[in-house]
Amino acid sequence: MWTLWLSPPRKAFGSEAPSRFQGVELIFEQIRSLTSDNFTYLIGDEESHEAMVVDPTSPSSKVLSAINKHEVKVKYIVNTHGHGDHTSGNSELKGLTGAMVAAHKASEHPKDIALEDGVTLKLGRLEVKVLHTPGHSPDGICLLVDKRLITGDTLFVGECGRTDLPGGDSEQLYTSLFEKILKLEDDIVIYPGHDYGPSPFSALGLERKTNQALAPRTKQEFIEFMSEP
Ligand SMILES: [Fe+2]
Repeated sequence: MWTLWLSPPRKAFGSEAPSRFQGVELIFEQIRSLTSDNFTYLIGDEESHEAMVVDPTSPSSKVLSAINKHEVKVKYIVNTHGHGDHTSGNSELKGLTGAMVAAHKASEHPKDIALEDGVTLKLGRLEVKVLHTPGHSPDGICLLVDKRLITGDTLFVGECGRTDLPGGDSEQLYTSLFEKILKLEDDIVIYPGHDYGPSPFSALGLERKTNQALAPRTKQEFIEFMSEP
């Protein structure tokens, strides 16, 4: 089944039709920044019209267009981690929508909700699960909804996040990748924080076979791999 994702149509995910999940119509849009390779995500529930925006970048015009198109109310702004390119749109979007900012409790950024591993954020009847995945940064999280995993800078298509920035930790990233993310099913589709790979999203089963960072390694071998230039 994963071969379906070998060459995904890049334009198809700018305006995806809702799909059914947990008995409700799921809104899910991957939105590429106007000024960088960052991805922002809009997740919503067609029934309650509640939504969350993940990693808003500034300017917010494309996100605002998606919000207006789906006629949703933004309940949460969620940051996958606190690096500035994932939080630059927080203030503008919070000012425009009144949404609550949610981030992992280790984040040093202003937030209304401190998230922990395993909690869920609810949009109507829709539940979005938080996975704490430190390594790229101490406050890194992934978000699981339906068969989709928003991976921030923990895992990209074809590679993983760097660990040489302040707070980075290759041993923690090994645990997050190999003992948490790779425990998920192969048909989970990863949606990264940056458009770095040959496709904007990819099935975890394909990444398991082709992503150089996910090649079988011991923890020590992975730490050495991450320290290579
Ligand atoms: Fe980052």
